Amino acid sequence: MSSELSLLAVKTLSWDEFAAALAPLLSPETRLRREEPLATKTTMRVGGAARVYAEPASIADLQTLLRAAVQRSVKVLLLGRGSNLIVPDEGVDGLVIGLAHDVWAAFEPRSDGRVWVGAGLRLKNLCGLAAKAGLTGFEFLEGIPGNVGGALRMNAGAMGGWIFDVVEEMQLMTFAGEVKTLGKSALHVDYRHCAELHDAIALGAVLRPAAHADAEAINRQIDVYRRKRHESQPREPSAGCVFKNPPGLSAGRLIDECGLKGEHVGDAEVSGVHANFIINRGQATGADVLELVRRVRTRVRQVRGVELEPEVLLYGKNWRDVL
Ligand code: EPU
Repeated sequence: MSSELSLLAVKTLSWDEFAAALAPLLSPETRLRREEPLATKTTMRVGGAARVYAEPASIADLQTLLRAAVQRSVKVLLLGRGSNLIVPDEGVDGLVIGLAHDVWAAFEPRSDGRVWVGAGLRLKNLCGLAAKAGLTGFEFLEGIPGNVGGALRMNAGAMGGWIFDVVEEMQLMTFAGEVKTLGKSALHVDYRHCAELHDAIALGAVLRPAAHADAEAINRQIDVYRRKRHESQPREPSAGCVFKNPPGLSAGRLIDECGLKGEHVGDAEVSGVHANFIINRGQATGADVLELVRRVRTRVRQVRGVELEPEVLLYGKNWRDVL
């Protein structure tokens, strides 16, 4: 056996061992799998598998997973709705955790007028439930194809607002398994960024509605945003906006002005509808998407002198290492 092959065999064995050691510690409701394909769990639909994948069904099981991973120096990655990720073709060497079990999808209005939302709740459902309850202020979240946890991690935003505008408290679990509640003033948030979630997992948040209104008026506002989005963003599979808007500039406009709409590598293509989206025409690979990201960055640097920074995450890796 060549040394590379034997190294691969040892690695494979240790992932099997890690999963086998975990299984008896978890409740039967918690899912645990080896080599779980991730492409179908993301909106871009590219990339490989998670070496180990888990969907915990309780706080205790989440703690067990995290502590076991920390103990073995296994990298932990959270997977929300997979709407802001590019998964590399080789997959992810780590433990990927999805808060997909119903237990994480709470929407609980409180007597003080605020509402507790779980990290696994889809933003679309949050909007629908808030409209039903007559609570305004969350309409802008409707079009973001993520869940609450992912939105907190990225400080997701649309239509001039971002999620931390409406957050009053956030609950998280550190990788050591400790649960903490942080008030707004203790949080360090910025454009597409929340420092507290670099090495912790969002469990949920307490949100403050703007006001009360009837469901019909709220739904009308949601419709306005939905129409605006449908006119300006592509429908094909994508990971949303690829690059952050540089201060005072629009990444989409810059890429468009560089004549890059329609540029493609394999089935990965710069959208003709919005140039800051890379769409998957069907059979794109992670490598196709990465190559196209490189090309777009290079062209915008050469033509406009602007260095675009990715907004989407390269799952399990650092963009710095591939760009
Ligand atoms: N534009 C072009 N050509 C294009 C695309 C856009 O000229 O191909 C122009 C538009 O005409 C407009 C300006 O660029 O004048 C800005 O475009 P848009 O209004 O679509 O907003 P954006 O800054 O590109 C941001 C967020 C989106 C969010 C929209 C709507 C970022 C990087 N993007 O897009 O978020 O949905 O506002 O609120 O902050 C995401 O985070 O994944 C995302 C899609």
